[in-house]
Amino acid sequence: MQSALDRDVVLPSPIEAIEYKLPVGVRLHIKREDLIHPQHGGNKWRKLKYNLQAYLRGGYTELVTFGGAFSNHIAATASICADYGITSVGIIRGTYSDPANPTLINAQQHGMQIHHIPKDAYRLKEESTVFRELISRYSSPYIIPEGGSNQLALTGVSEIVTEIRAQEEQVEHIFVAAGTGTTAAGIINNLEPNQFLHVIAVLKHAGLDADIRQRLSGNKTNWKVYHDYHHGGYARVSGELISFINEFKKETGIPLDPIYTGKMMYAIYDLLGQESVSEHLGNMLAIHTGGLQGITGYNYMNKDESLALR
Ligand SMILES: Cc1ncc(COP(=O)(O)O)c(C=O)c1O
Repeated sequence: MQSALDRDVVLPSPIEAIEYKLPVGVRLHIKREDLIHPQHGGNKWRKLKYNLQAYLRGGYTELVTFGGAFSNHIAATASICADYGITSVGIIRGTYSDPANPTLINAQQHGMQIHHIPKDAYRLKEESTVFRELISRYSSPYIIPEGGSNQLALTGVSEIVTEIRAQEEQVEHIFVAAGTGTTAAGIINNLEPNQFLHVIAVLKHAGLDADIRQRLSGNKTNWKVYHDYHHGGYARVSGELISFINEFKKETGIPLDPIYTGKMMYAIYDLLGQESVSEHLGNMLAIHTGGLQGITGYNYMNKDESLALR
């Protein structure tokens, strides 16, 4: 059902077939959450949806959130707030401020008020005195944690599975990229018993499984985290990853970002290349969680032409 919150977004997000380099007997589809909205699509929209509802119902006057200088969440929050006429405030990790940072320029163009705070204060988030002093200037702020990862986000994300059920009956193996694991947990909570979630960790974090588990409702076992596809860590890349993303886009027309969706799709093709694994993978669906603004940020920071994203 469309609601006021669904305005200007494409729902359900389309599911497309991928024909590129598949072993015989394997079907691979991709759910294009990135197409929900050009600026605030992907898992960001899912995470923000019910937070936006809480904001609108609660009579707040500003929406405040946290992120790094290239954060997809900061970009998406600024965009969605601009659409709804909400004052947005971004608390950015670290005092260094680059006036040419494309993510922050874009957020400011959407009206977001940006505050850089020292890394140690940022680590403490709402407990930090720097943050408290800053926030006291605003009259009735609604605060969303870093990455948008709260309970309302879990509910929003779980709706991806409800949509899949209505769109594509034969999906057994679902793949998603994970940072905090909130998106993965929301999906697991809503899976059918015959469905399995393959979670690709994009960072080095041995505790990710436990982080996901503590967000689950009940004892779910139909999921697994892969810890070998981070390519050196969060926001790190390898030459293989960048070549794969460029090639995948050339062959399928589907853009992937280097931080999340590129690592997920790279992992899928690596697993498909292992016969002992691929023989168990029949009907597969990758979730494109968006984050494409990260390509601009990546190319801005990257100084090596051979590692450029095209
Ligand atoms: C594009 C994209 N995909 C996936 C994720 C991972 O989401 P989560 O932190 O819920 O694991 C993020 C980060 O929020 C993201 O920006």
